[in-house]
Amino acid sequence: MSNINVGIIGFGTVGAGTVEILFENRDIILNRVGSEIIVKKIADLDTQSDRGFPIDPDLLTTDAMEIIHDPQIDIVVELMGGKEKAKDYILKAMENGKHVVTANKALLAEHGEEIYRAAEQFGVGVAFEASVGGGIPIIRALKDGLSANRISTIMGILNGTSNYILTRMTQEGLPYSEAVKEAIELGYAEAPPTLDVDGTDAAHKLAILISIIYGTPVPFDDIYREGIENLVPEDIRFAGQFGYCIKMLAITRNLGDRIEARVHPTMVSLDHIMANVNGAYNAIYVEGDFVGPNLYYGLGAGRRPTGSAVVSDIIYLARQLCNGISKPMPPLAHASPQEKEIPIQPMETLRAAYYFRFSANDRPGVLSKISGILGDHEISISNVIQKGRKVNGSVPVVMLTHEARESSVSKALSRLDSLDVLTDKTMVIRVEGE
Ligand code: HSE
Repeated sequence: MSNINVGIIGFGTVGAGTVEILFENRDIILNRVGSEIIVKKIADLDTQSDRGFPIDPDLLTTDAMEIIHDPQIDIVVELMGGKEKAKDYILKAMENGKHVVTANKALLAEHGEEIYRAAEQFGVGVAFEASVGGGIPIIRALKDGLSANRISTIMGILNGTSNYILTRMTQEGLPYSEAVKEAIELGYAEAPPTLDVDGTDAAHKLAILISIIYGTPVPFDDIYREGIENLVPEDIRFAGQFGYCIKMLAITRNLGDRIEARVHPTMVSLDHIMANVNGAYNAIYVEGDFVGPNLYYGLGAGRRPTGSAVVSDIIYLARQLCNGISKPMPPLAHASPQEKEIPIQPMETLRAAYYFRFSANDRPGVLSKISGILGDHEISISNVIQKGRKVNGSVPVVMLTHEARESSVSKALSRLDSLDVLTDKTMVIRVEGE
């Protein structure tokens, strides 16, 4: 087989990592594919910056169309990010018969259906390992290694930035704002890091994982998401006193006729498998009906790990080309997409245990008022802490509950928050694994 020519759109962090691996590991890749993978063109508006390794200036262009219309290019790698323009480039490349690799989680989570339909229509492959978990090969694990199983649960730390921030708040007692500043300085977070900390990035990744389990895209907007912006070190300290830590978890469970799909800060027991995933690391726990529990752990971001995932996709498609496989695997690895949309359970019907931190006046009868209202809504308390005297005129009263319905919690809180003995909005965190 002749060489496989690749065109790369986007020469930022991940683009540079991808090219570096293709250059540096050229010999082993040649042996694993059976053909040479040639970087034919790289498009980026910035053709001048030093990427840390020598690059032939003739490879660089500012015009992505040079790649999309080059008849010699077999695989187009989209690493520019953003939605509309990236989507146009991908669709145009597919129309021109090119296979596509992308790391674009936002695009796949929100417009995946259009991309997957175009891939099938034009008979090209599309691969997106780098869209979830950086260097962790979770997409291929779900599509191949675990393909014999019905997947009942996925629980993931899917955003390295928020995990880094929570780790620093937990281990060093840093306030949120300082931990965010550090994450930006270290290059983990975008500036501003909104999508990382508000749950959107993890929800994009969760949507992609769910779409692979069921073979159909999910309505992204139905995935519940809540960020870590309002957490304070005090909550992390109280969690520790109860034997928990706080992690930003993305969770999906198969409930039979519907699924859970949610991303939010979650209290997990200190001996929970996710409690020891720290810093910018990601971890994904998967449970299948025959395989049982599986755990994947690694760096969820960065030039080298994410580049590793992108190159694995290039190799995957190149192998198919070299072996003359004329019909690429369907994008979601299901022969025919599920007809029906997967219904996502509304959050009001979730049953979970809860952590509440009330800011209360330190007066007789306050605790009984709070517990009375919780009792009226069938919320049973399992543990209470009230420590210290007044801070700004109020004391924290912290409770853990037994399992309760989310809708009851919302109703109880709206009554509680209107009490004059409570001086601030109540902090609520769901507890996993009760
Ligand atoms: N910004 C992401 C994170 C990395 O912090 O995990 C890319 O998906």
